[in-house]
Amino acid sequence: MYTPDPNRYDHAQYNRCGKSGLLLPAISLGLWHNFGDTESFENGRKIIRSAFDRGVTHFDLANNYGVPPGSAEENFGKILRKDFPGYLRDELIISSKAGWRMWPGPYGEFNSRKYLVASLDQSLKRMGVDYVDIFYSHRPDPETPVEETMMALDSIVRSGKALYAGISSYDAAESARAFEILKSLGTPCLIHQPKYSMLDRWVEDGLLDTLEQYGVGCIVFSPLAQGLLSGKYLNGIPEDSRAKNPTGFLKESEVTERRIKQMRALNEIAAARGQSLSQMAIAWLLKDGRVTSVLVGVSREEQLLDNLGALNNLKFDTDELLAIEGVLAEKF
Ligand SMILES: NC(=O)c1ccc[n+]([C@@H]2O[C@H](COP(=O)([O-])OP(=O)(O)OC[C@H]3O[C@@H](n4cnc5c(N)ncnc54)[C@H](OP(=O)(O)O)[C@@H]3O)[C@@H](O)[C@H]2O)c1
Repeated sequence: MYTPDPNRYDHAQYNRCGKSGLLLPAISLGLWHNFGDTESFENGRKIIRSAFDRGVTHFDLANNYGVPPGSAEENFGKILRKDFPGYLRDELIISSKAGWRMWPGPYGEFNSRKYLVASLDQSLKRMGVDYVDIFYSHRPDPETPVEETMMALDSIVRSGKALYAGISSYDAAESARAFEILKSLGTPCLIHQPKYSMLDRWVEDGLLDTLEQYGVGCIVFSPLAQGLLSGKYLNGIPEDSRAKNPTGFLKESEVTERRIKQMRALNEIAAARGQSLSQMAIAWLLKDGRVTSVLVGVSREEQLLDNLGALNNLKFDTDELLAIEGVLAEKF
């Protein structure tokens, strides 16, 4: 029987999500990898309990997470039923998304109202919950009018099946258009979920400014570049890594000699700060006040604890920032 740590909120850090009323933990947990049917259920359960015990209130899912797709939501639902009795639902922020391929045929992907509404209903059933806190359009759709997608998000929020609306991976111009439509419908966009790490900085080219302008929060995904920025690959590719996992999205070919040298140089800067590389990579993202939360994935509890340790040192001096920029710019 799991009893949450009564002191779980004492040392946790929460940030306001844009100009909304919602606070999110500075570090949130994503269930993309490591929670499907091909992974250990008990390991996933341990990670979720450990996160909640440390004030991580936000768990991020999507219809297609896990192998097979949908199994992460099913397993998360089982964990909720086993460990999080009804009254704890009010202490959790659960998100889901639709946009990527989930079922065959013309209504199983992208952004039509037909797909988004049906997919959310399936997600609620898989998790066994009455509502999600945040429902996202998972990716922009070049064919569906953005008005239709935003009207679907607005009506989903009005139906009570989601409390807030979000978008993911929309560029700055697409985001501004979506925010305007949602605002006009009376359901302001809560949050944007873009990819952002030291190795992928596209959001710095306009998106973060747009989010600030519209008062929309930002939760960044793959902050450790799927593990490259964790120190895991400093000495090559371990067997128990995402890069070696045939169903993992990180490819072995991405772990190049150049990348390893670069990670070693970053690791030295982190060590001088008294941090692990993953802690520095997370702190580096949180130094920007426009970033509400950093959404990590972990395959074991030790990684979660390591990552949460980032919150002990979020400040960088100018020399450290310049040293990091130097390493990121260097041709190894
Ligand atoms: N909106 C979208 O389109 C989208 C896309 C992708 C992800 N996401 C969300 O973002 C979440 C995070 O993405 P991500 O899993 O790519 O994040 P990530 O934090 O960049 O990578 C997670 C992986 O890094 C390794 N790792 C993490 N912490 C570590 C540590 N302290 N020491 C050593 N290795 C460590 C683990 O890999 P090993 O498995 O090798 O141990 C872990 O599975 C997802 O779960 C999902 O919720 C959203």
